[in-house]
Amino acid sequence: MTAKQTWNPDRYSRSARFVSDLAGPVVELLAPKPGERLLDLGCGDGALTEKLAAMGCDVLGVDSSVEQIEAARRRGLDVRVMDGHQLSFNEEFDAVFSNAALHWMKRPDDVIAGVRRALRPRGRFVAEFGCHGCVATVVAALHSSLARRGIDAAAINPWYFPTAEDYGARLAQGGFDVTWIGLIPRPTVLPGEMTGWLETFAETFTMALPAQERARFLSEVQEVLRPDLCMPDGKWVADYVRLRFSAIRREE
Ligand code: BEZ
Repeated sequence: MTAKQTWNPDRYSRSARFVSDLAGPVVELLAPKPGERLLDLGCGDGALTEKLAAMGCDVLGVDSSVEQIEAARRRGLDVRVMDGHQLSFNEEFDAVFSNAALHWMKRPDDVIAGVRRALRPRGRFVAEFGCHGCVATVVAALHSSLARRGIDAAAINPWYFPTAEDYGARLAQGGFDVTWIGLIPRPTVLPGEMTGWLETFAETFTMALPAQERARFLSEVQEVLRPDLCMPDGKWVADYVRLRFSAIRREE
């Protein structure tokens, strides 16, 4: 059985703070207005939810991780544990916002349908997430290192990285007018070594191995990646590519 990715808020804060720190452009695309009712889909530990609340918005955050929701609640935010494939809202929000979460949701049509239901008429869906080509070098190294151990990584890969054409078509099919969609290559300097990124984000792959083999596997993947992703100054850069879009609920 495939292990589910888990989230440790302390580790996330140490190794992945850049995820919310680099969200300026998608927040700008959202253009939140004071008093708006917003849903932050996949809010994680609430770093961005808190920023939206500080801008005067009335924000509810949802995330499937109990640990992350507890961390967000410690910030004093209004948050709930909820699976993004099964949003249970009905015409309550002026906008649904999501950063770095949709690539963990492998049934995009269910997500889009739930977002549409959650929005008021003409409500906005504005998001950014990993797309086709995102961390492709890392994915290739994970796949080849697992293949050497007789494991088919494609069967356990937790990430959904669509093309802009694919996701745009799903939004249109799901009842949205897409007002802007674009693919943004964003090589991202990591705060530490590649093994730290892998421990934070690639747990599903690591957990396919017996506990005593995991550390060796992570070092091996890091060494495979060193020539491409470790810069001469020793900094690691992940080959992120983002899909950013803004869409409006279409009224039939
Ligand atoms: C992200 O959080 O942006 C991300 C996570 C895993 C793979 C690629 C991107």
